[in-house]
Amino acid sequence: MTIQWFPGHMTRAKRQIEEKLKLIDVVFELLDARIPQSSRNPMVDEITSSKPRLVLLNKADLADPDKTAEWARYFRSKGLATHAIDANAGTGVKDLVNKAKELLEEKIQKQISKGMKPRPMRALIVGIPNVGKSTLINRLAGKSIALTGDRPGVTKGQQWIRFGGDLELLDTPGILWPKFDDPIAGFRLAATGAIKEDVLHIDEVACFVLKVLVENYGPVLKERYGLDELPKELPDMQAAVDVLESIGRRRGCIVSGGHVDYDKASTLLLRDLRSGKLGRMTLESPEA
Ligand code: G4P
Repeated sequence: MTIQWFPGHMTRAKRQIEEKLKLIDVVFELLDARIPQSSRNPMVDEITSSKPRLVLLNKADLADPDKTAEWARYFRSKGLATHAIDANAGTGVKDLVNKAKELLEEKIQKQISKGMKPRPMRALIVGIPNVGKSTLINRLAGKSIALTGDRPGVTKGQQWIRFGGDLELLDTPGILWPKFDDPIAGFRLAATGAIKEDVLHIDEVACFVLKVLVENYGPVLKERYGLDELPKELPDMQAAVDVLESIGRRRGCIVSGGHVDYDKASTLLLRDLRSGKLGRMTLESPEA
């Protein structure tokens, strides 16, 4: 899905989420575990401030587990609970209910002390495009136990999905816009496929990725592409182009005249990264 984020659309997206917040108890903020900061909407704290929030580090199957643990500590230090999941395979999804319960413990206890039977918690998933919102919703809907959407204030077409006995989820997520102003975040978003390649040039994205990978995952890179030599870091663009060239040669991305086809080599590298063929990798560190 391509969304053009003009100021009017952002205002509308914000308003739509604010409307949905009135119906729910807890927000699930979905981030990409490989780029938790860059995949965060810049205004999410402000927009969702009226509700308890659980940060979900999705695509954890593709991220470096040590880095995911580091990010969890970072968010915790900022007062935000986190939970790592793989919405595709369903890993960690069941635990969502208990994590949400922990956040709403006080409210639940209050209901119990008043002699009320706590009703299922109602949740809304929010996040930027491509972070896995639909995948998670489908995963939670798994057994297709959808309830009626005929509730006051629910926009036509919205339904509650019940997960187990304790959680109800709005089946339409809150879609937020990604970071536009930070060029590095833009490269990270492009590297993971969250923004399309026509926005940034593919070989520039590949060179950005190589810089991160050489500095953090050099041995893996060397082995995957059979590279003889790999510097410990890439001080400039030319150094990154040199590595891309070596990868292209090793993988036969050659055009007439024996030159390396950089676009082809870049596509290959990014495909390997996104599919996890390079291994589990995280492209940014807290406060980096
Ligand atoms: P959105 O609603 O937030 O826009 O995202 P969506 O669920 O459409 O997911 C975007 C892509 O991310 C999909 O891949 C989806 O399969 C993948 N994805 C979502 N969650 C996970 C996860 O936890 N792990 C991994 N590895 N991938 C995840 P796609 O390439 O668009 O489609 P496809 O590969 O499923 O065919």
